[in-house]
Amino acid sequence: MVKPDAVARGLVGEIIAIVEREGFVVERLELQRFDRAKAEAFYDVHRGKAFFESLIEFITSGPVVAMVLAGEKGIARVRELMGATDPAQAAPGTMRRKYGESVERNAVHGSDGAASAASEIAVVFGD
Ligand code: RTP
Ligand code: MG
Repeated sequence: MVKPDAVARGLVGEIIAIVEREGFVVERLELQRFDRAKAEAFYDVHRGKAFFESLIEFITSGPVVAMVLAGEKGIARVRELMGATDPAQAAPGTMRRKYGESVERNAVHGSDGAASAASEIAVVFGD
């Protein structure tokens, strides 16, 4: 998912180009504006953490571009392309290193496992 900070900065095309260049096929793609309920469902695992409120505010602050990507070992490879959560810690060349502004405004989201991918797709696309 391209987060609101990166959508606002006009990075949608570049981010899609990176994953397509790596061989991923876009299976679904939608520009969405998360409302509070959707954001809380999406980030349910982070409920109760110190950054939860701020994260909900950020993710609802503007449109996101949600995608389902298909590719071999997709979850691990997308997370490698994204880099560490904190852009300052992310490896050179990764999307978060290049486009992230802070640990919260870090440009992209990627599911961290098959189960979270399934539940996130259900929350985002409603099926
Ligand atoms: P993501 O879920 O967005 O792909 O990122 P991630 O797995 O690398 O990081 P995660 O621990 O799941 O955190 C989810 C998102 O919450 C924000 N965050 N803020 N202020 C903070 O300390 C903090 N920690 C995490 C980030 O936007 C992170 O991507
Ligand atoms: Mg995560």
